[in-house]
Amino acid sequence: MKKEILLTGDRPTGKLHIGHYIGSLKNRVELQDQYNSFIMIADQQALTDNARNPEKIRNNLNEVALDYLSVGIDPSKVNIFVQSQIPELHELTMHYLNIVTLSRLKRNPTVKNEIKEKNFNESLPIGFLIYPVSQAADITAFKATVVPVGEDQIPMIEQTKEIVRSFNSIYKRDVLIEPNVLLPEKGLGRLPGIDGKAKMSKSLDNAIYLSDSPDIIKKKVMSMYTDPNHIRVEDPGNVENNTVFTYLDAFCSDKLQLEEMKEHYRKGGLGDVKVKKYLNDILQAELEPIRNKRNYYEKHLDFVFEVLKKEV
Ligand code: TRP
Repeated sequence: MKKEILLTGDRPTGKLHIGHYIGSLKNRVELQDQYNSFIMIADQQALTDNARNPEKIRNNLNEVALDYLSVGIDPSKVNIFVQSQIPELHELTMHYLNIVTLSRLKRNPTVKNEIKEKNFNESLPIGFLIYPVSQAADITAFKATVVPVGEDQIPMIEQTKEIVRSFNSIYKRDVLIEPNVLLPEKGLGRLPGIDGKAKMSKSLDNAIYLSDSPDIIKKKVMSMYTDPNHIRVEDPGNVENNTVFTYLDAFCSDKLQLEEMKEHYRKGGLGDVKVKKYLNDILQAELEPIRNKRNYYEKHLDFVFEVLKKEV
């Protein structure tokens, strides 16, 4: 049977962190045998709010490619490619722009949110406002039916479906195919930052990167936000909204042991340092092979460039 087509991507605005790993990268590795997979480094989309900073995007393009290979995305199974290298995507975007209205674009909740966060005010680049249209081109050009993304990307898939319907109805052909969103498993959607803030991000300096050294990982884990009211070891503690436990939920495979620890922590008598050390051991074990693979590919950049240059 012919495999369904999967397409997803990342903006190369920084190295990938363990939030990306838990929320999507790990899953992509699991899906790579099941689908005909396309994974795109969305450099053009990243430029929509980085036009004055192209170096950043260029440098991170390689970093993201290294992150992909290091987590086990296998270029013999998956087509990894760079958005700006496919001129047809930009051509298609121009066609789509004629069937999407400005008011529709302004209503996109994710874009609306980003515009506010980035304080664009009157200096909003048009390219940024229309990136959902270019994303619709990315998805439909490859006839993807499965798009694994985070919840914040649901509006982009909705927009894509609308474009597919309009296009097919106006041009009286069923050329375009409607995609479906594939959301992360419950609880694995978004890992908070080590400071307990909702999102891991470079600007907040609260992320653990796949490429971090063992020392840095340990330092970050030991500085993690826990329950601010859990002061003395014998105090009862809260495991909800406690970043260390949130990470353990995501990374610890021994669920029985984890439940026992939570019980103990709730009752009192289990110190933060002990829990953090436990998490550190688990993270180190998971990230070591990834870092080793990364080191290998950093020494074989020619191979990485070959992968990016391969025709899709
Ligand atoms: N907007 C996505 C993000 O910020 C990246 C992206 C670009 C994408 N094109 C895509 C994701 C197509 C899925 C399909 O994460």
